[in-house]
Amino acid sequence: MDETFDIHRNWTPEEAAQRWEEMREHEGLCKFSNHGGFHVAARFDDVLKVLMSPEIFGSSKGITLPPPDKVRSLHIPAEVDPPLHAQYRNIVQPLFGATQARAMEPDIAAIAADLVSRIPDGEPVDFVRMLARPLPIRVALMLLDVPLDHAEELEVMVEDLHHEVATGEARGGGKRLEAFAYSVLDRHSEALRDNKANVVTAILDGNVGGRPLSREEQMSMVRLIMVGGFDTTSIALANLAVWLSDNLEAAREMRDEPRRIDDLSEEIVRFSSPSTYLRREVMQPVELSGTQLQPGESVLVAYASANRDPRKFECPASIVPDRKPNPHVGFGAGRHRCIGSFIAKAQMRAAFEGLVDAFARIEIDTERPASYSSGLGQGISSLPMRLWRTDAINR
Ligand code: HEM
Repeated sequence: MDETFDIHRNWTPEEAAQRWEEMREHEGLCKFSNHGGFHVAARFDDVLKVLMSPEIFGSSKGITLPPPDKVRSLHIPAEVDPPLHAQYRNIVQPLFGATQARAMEPDIAAIAADLVSRIPDGEPVDFVRMLARPLPIRVALMLLDVPLDHAEELEVMVEDLHHEVATGEARGGGKRLEAFAYSVLDRHSEALRDNKANVVTAILDGNVGGRPLSREEQMSMVRLIMVGGFDTTSIALANLAVWLSDNLEAAREMRDEPRRIDDLSEEIVRFSSPSTYLRREVMQPVELSGTQLQPGESVLVAYASANRDPRKFECPASIVPDRKPNPHVGFGAGRHRCIGSFIAKAQMRAAFEGLVDAFARIEIDTERPASYSSGLGQGISSLPMRLWRTDAINR
């Protein structure tokens, strides 16, 4: 194993898969010296142990690597440890359940249909620009009850923030995103509230330890809802499009079976693991897979590696649409498990249905290469495609 492991380098999917295999096979946990030194939990069982023991592997010192101190304030509730974590999470949890996501489906489907309608027939397009990025950013704005015409501005801010987290180089994205989150809160302030019950009013009314949330805490919760579901869902949607390009006939057979589409979406999240790694900090001495860890040390949780662990998943490198059981950790596990998973799956289903209905042929444009993001959320960041409309072919 090398002394250093640069997670912010652009790994191709093949290189990354090779890397994870080496780390899973390594005796004990791999240790690297960059970013202040860190271990990697790469085997499924190790990852699960870390995620299920938040009192030993804490999130409150920051879940990104390098840690976030210079670039941004902490994300709530992702960077709060139990028992306090539940108090923050419970403020918004009731608005993110399966029933609530189901109620949002018609609006999510309308946004997806609008984006699908803008894809030009048979012409070279970047699927990520046309659908995979605009859909989650619009859905986040919808959740926060903000007009969708802020979508492009928000997209640039989130991109800049990710760049800052990865490189430590200030681009102002973090600051602009904070200002945007404050403006979202102001839109819902007492005077303008209009009896609306939504995620933002729940945050404004939220209490922790018997006191109202501070303005900064409110901002942090709004900001995480914008950031948490953006690149992640975008990567999953791009992988869905790749799958559709090879399996359009099979997709048509599933078109009216939402449960099968949800199973496929779970499998795509396992396969693509849009949240590739996140950090935990050791809070008390512990041994993991024979490696002794001390308080203050960083452990990088490799969700993507766990999801490809052949000890847990048969044919881990293939997408098996009806894989059962599918105990993947693509949405995390334990107390911090993704709060937005139902909304992410609703978006994947809306995209699936919109694309299958509109297009007779979906092809990856092999003349132009796809590109991949680096860092904590690795996955497809541009996807050249051509899509041919069913109505144009039938005309
Ligand atoms: C395919 C899409 C998504 C993936 C793969 C994903 C992945 C994850 C993962 C792995 C975690 C756990 C982080 C940890 O262990 O520290 C997480 C947490 C979280 N996600 Fe997602 N996410 C997705 C979509 C969304 C969406 C759409 C939203 C919001 C609308 C969202 C909001 C959050 C929030 C707020 C947390 C923090 C939960 C907590 O700490 O209690 N995510 N997500």
